[in-house]
Parts: sequence; C-alpha cells; structure tokens
Amino acid sequence: MLQIEEMRLIKTVKELKTILAAATGSVGLVPTMGAIHQGHVALLTKARSDCGTVVASIFVNPHQFNIKNDYLNYPKNLSTDLEIMENSGVDIVFKPNIEEIYPNSFTTTVNVKSLSDRLEGAFRPGHLDSVATIVIKLLNICQPNFVYFGQKDIQQLLMIKRMIIDLNIQTNLVSIDTVRDKDGLALSSRNNHLTEAQKQSALGLYSSLKSASNLSRNGEKSANKIKSEMEQILLSHNLDIDYLAICDSETLDEVTYINGAALAVIAAYCGNIRLIDNMLI
Ligand code: PAF
Repeated sequence: MLQIEEMRLIKTVKELKTILAAATGSVGLVPTMGAIHQGHVALLTKARSDCGTVVASIFVNPHQFNIKNDYLNYPKNLSTDLEIMENSGVDIVFKPNIEEIYPNSFTTTVNVKSLSDRLEGAFRPGHLDSVATIVIKLLNICQPNFVYFGQKDIQQLLMIKRMIIDLNIQTNLVSIDTVRDKDGLALSSRNNHLTEAQKQSALGLYSSLKSASNLSRNGEKSANKIKSEMEQILLSHNLDIDYLAICDSETLDEVTYINGAALAVIAAYCGNIRLIDNMLI
C-alpha cells in the first residue's frame, strides 16, 4: 500500500504516474467534475474500502457540455471538494488543467456506437462521446484496478462498461446505487441550482419512477401504459420532458412489452435545470 499521510493534490500526468508507480496495493479511481455531494462520497467510501490507494479526479470536461453557459455555470467549490475528499479518505486528487488533458494537437474522439447515440445522445449530441473520450484518457493515465461510477448516469455507466470490454481496458468497473435525498430526489451537482419550489417540482421524477415500479410489480407489462402514467405525473409536477423511455437494462433498446427487468429512464427540465433519473422496474 502507498503510504500517503496527507492527501496530495496533483496537477500533471507525469507527477501522478510517478506517485502511482510506487503504489503496491490496488488503485481505485473515482472520476468527478467536482461539486462533490453525498453521491460522490458513496463512491469514494466504496473505493476506500476496496483499494490501497484512492485517486479522485476533478476535471470539468468542457467538451461534454452542449451549452457554453452550462459549462461556465457548472458549480465549482474546490476548497469544499478537497475537504470532503480528504474526509472520505482520498489519497490523491488529480486536478489537471485543460491544456494538460487537451493539448492543441488533441484530435481523437471515442464513440461507443448505439449506446451513445440514443436518449441522452439524441438530446445532447456528442455529449457521451466526450464522456467516453475523457474517461478513457483518465483510465490510461491512472491505470486503476478499479474505477467507480454511480447508477444515476445509467447511460454513461452502460457505455463505459461496454467501452471497457470492447477495448480490453484492464480495470474493473464498480457501480453503486443512486443516492437520493430523504424525499427521493437523486443527488446531482445540478440540484444546487434548484430553488425550493423547483425542488418540489423535481420530486416528480422520483414519483413517476416509483409509480412505474409499482405498476410493473403489480403485473403491468405494457410499456406504453406505464409511460403514460409516468408522463401524467411528470406533467402534473410542471416538468418539461426531454425523453421518457422503458428500455432493456443493458442495451437501452426501447421495449414495448416488459419481460424481466427493464429500466425506466427520464430526462426533464425543471425550469431551466435539466435533470435525469432512472429506476429498474
Ligand atoms: O459523471 C461525471 O461526473 C462525468 O461525466 C465524468 C465521468 C467525471 C466524466 O467527465
């Protein structure tokens, strides 16, 4: 195990590689864009219990934002992030600047066909390609034994899982359940932008997913019937729906008939804040 008494803040690939070369236990990587909340803490805690050395990256990846203002307004609070990371037992924070990750000569994009083009991909063209590209870069830089992602971004998770298999990347992907607040709202850095009234409205996502799960548990097999119930709940909460789908839980192909586990997925706007959530039903 790498003996690090104090958490270290590393900014360059070279320095990170040098430190990790001395690590003898397993290395766990938790990729983040900062704005750390309890969902990230759950990932960090899991990494801490699994691995000898825990690396957390903080990099607000400009390429994965479709709207410039969304990137510029992405919540940033480095000192709080570092404090939470230290309290969660992180050994190394990797916080590169943009030029370190994307030098002028940078030109490659990774595309995980079909898994990155539908749902989020249809509404945010190129977003998931940019996520795949930064994640593979972080994996190559850090070469972790384990890498950790939350199930809230389910399409991101399934896409990265596919990419790791397809490209023979030597790491184990660990996923953990979505962390929700006491009312069921899935934790997200974007929740920081919600007003109290919008938070009430945002609960419509969880209510509609719960109702889908109840309907399915009670034997409803028609995806259309479940979707129309979900839609009513979302609309009654003043949410503006981007997509609402019942999908295969691995391929994200839409299903019309529920046979075994299916995934209900939603993206909706609450005011001008875009929220996503999902549930196995
Ligand atoms: O889920 C996120 O925070 C980001 O998409 C990730 C995986 C850190 C890549 O920038």
